[in-house]
Amino acid sequence: MCGIVGYMGCHEASPVIMSGLKMLEYRGYDSAGICTMDLGAVEIRRSSGKLVNLERLLNEQPLHGTIGIGHTRWATHGKPTVVNAHPHRGGAVVVVHNGIIENYLSLKEELLDKGHMFLSETDSEVISHLVDEKLKTATTLEEAVRLALKDLQGAYALCILSQRDDKTLIAAKSGSPMVVGIKGHEFFIASDMPAIIANTREMVIMEDGEMAVFRNGTVIFTDLDGQDIVKTPRFIDWSPMMAEKNGYPNFMLKEIHEQPQAVKNVTAGRLRPNEGDVFLEGLHLSDRQLLSFERLCLVACGTSWHAALAGKYMIEEHCRIPVDVEIASEFRYRDPLVSGKTLVIPISQSGETADTLAALREAKSRDAHIVSICNVVDSSIARESDGVIYTHAGLEIGVASTKAFTTQLVALYMLTIRLGRANGAINLEKGREMIAALNALPDLVEKTLLLDPQIEEVACEYLTSWDAIYLGRGISYPIALEGALKLKEISYIHADGYPAGEMKHGPIALIDREMPVFVLAPNDRHLVKVRSNMEEVITRGGRVAAFCSAGDEETGKRAEFSLQIPWAGEVLSAVLFAVALQLVAYNFAILKGKDVDQPRNLAKSVTVE
Ligand code: G6P
Repeated sequence: MCGIVGYMGCHEASPVIMSGLKMLEYRGYDSAGICTMDLGAVEIRRSSGKLVNLERLLNEQPLHGTIGIGHTRWATHGKPTVVNAHPHRGGAVVVVHNGIIENYLSLKEELLDKGHMFLSETDSEVISHLVDEKLKTATTLEEAVRLALKDLQGAYALCILSQRDDKTLIAAKSGSPMVVGIKGHEFFIASDMPAIIANTREMVIMEDGEMAVFRNGTVIFTDLDGQDIVKTPRFIDWSPMMAEKNGYPNFMLKEIHEQPQAVKNVTAGRLRPNEGDVFLEGLHLSDRQLLSFERLCLVACGTSWHAALAGKYMIEEHCRIPVDVEIASEFRYRDPLVSGKTLVIPISQSGETADTLAALREAKSRDAHIVSICNVVDSSIARESDGVIYTHAGLEIGVASTKAFTTQLVALYMLTIRLGRANGAINLEKGREMIAALNALPDLVEKTLLLDPQIEEVACEYLTSWDAIYLGRGISYPIALEGALKLKEISYIHADGYPAGEMKHGPIALIDREMPVFVLAPNDRHLVKVRSNMEEVITRGGRVAAFCSAGDEETGKRAEFSLQIPWAGEVLSAVLFAVALQLVAYNFAILKGKDVDQPRNLAKSVTVE
């Protein structure tokens, strides 16, 4: 969602904040703004659109001062205009906000009655006026903020400045992420670590209900009653280099190409080839405990939900354990059937997705045991889980998830092995085979990436299409869904994924020369049936690009394109098909001249419901 950066130190704040915002632009890019405090006065620059517009404005009208706050926005309440851009000012108080204030209308009415004038349509502006109102009676800014926070309902990560106290910056968090980077007497505040990792790797992760008060080279953390909280900085083991493009034209392509290494990273130190088993250090569950669960419930959003669905295919088939797959935003509101006998597995790249976090809390309140699959270390979902399987994909900046998805698939495959070994559904020999397949995977991902020129030809051929269909059976079905989502996200071509056998129940009516059909036809037990479905399309004049397994010359013979994906076994071939479909979406988007890293209307981590 939106990105926040704050700074207090000995350098000019504006460039520090701008470089932090650049690292966060993937979180939202509808508008941006910065406020600095100089000689007791606050000054604000804001612009709509991407950060370059703000940068241009700052070149013309620079900001000075060593305290400042900045924001890059993903619009929720109010259009992406300059007036709705953060920072927002109410009287003497300036605020940047990530999250949603649910009771802002009633607060706004009260404040209007008290004479406050509102300029924007946002929920966030209400916070600045509310703090300003509290300043009338409070003795310090800190106290005024504390009083205001008690009136807010909803989610927030905030940075606040006031002209009434030009030595203080306040950060607060409830429901939206916030970290504080510390470098001696310099402080870097951000909604995400990448914004400040180039400045310091000593970070304090703020928890809900905490405030940080920065004043004169010190920081004090308190709760909302003003009680001090002792927080110890952690050393963050990320290289600032991860946030560079390393010669690639964009982050998405870089991240697609990082997948061989990402697959190595997610398995590193976890494979036990002799025992035909894996060691998942964050799982914290013995065989006996694993056997005590009656069912598993995988819960996620977006791409992570597709990984969850693939996980169901893996786990039910290989471990014979019932698995429910839940869309997080639905799960939490429908009185879900989970109990102490359910192992709930939230899956999230960012570990901050509001719906997934809320689903986790809902499951926890019903005594479920929680083991999450997360990429971002120490993210909210990871912290609130009983156990975590980290995917170690490294920082993912492209809004369209790529390496995070394939490493989620691998994490689920490892979990399958662990569960199957624990309950005996996977014997030693099969476990060893599965581990061997995993060891072979990085090279096969590398080989799949070499298909890029062929995939570009496919994209060229169908470039003028407005719609596309993806078909797959078995585990290829969730991969078809993910392929379609990728195409929608970055090329704005409408696409749908279907179980290939379901096509005849409706989607077949759409088949014509304008509708390319991407058929996933790995050489697995479904191949014969998938071939029939493909024929059904071709017979009706449909245009097919067939994604087959290496060595299968037969399947694609009647298709317009036939691509051969390396074979990695029934389950892990899904990872390779996913990589190929990422390249399909990427090529479409690039040929259409789209911004693949920052597609319109999307945000990398959605911290509002
Ligand atoms: C957003 C992103 C998607 C992502 C989804 C879930 O919609 O644009 O790419 O799959 O959130 O994110 P998570 O971080 O929970 O995996």
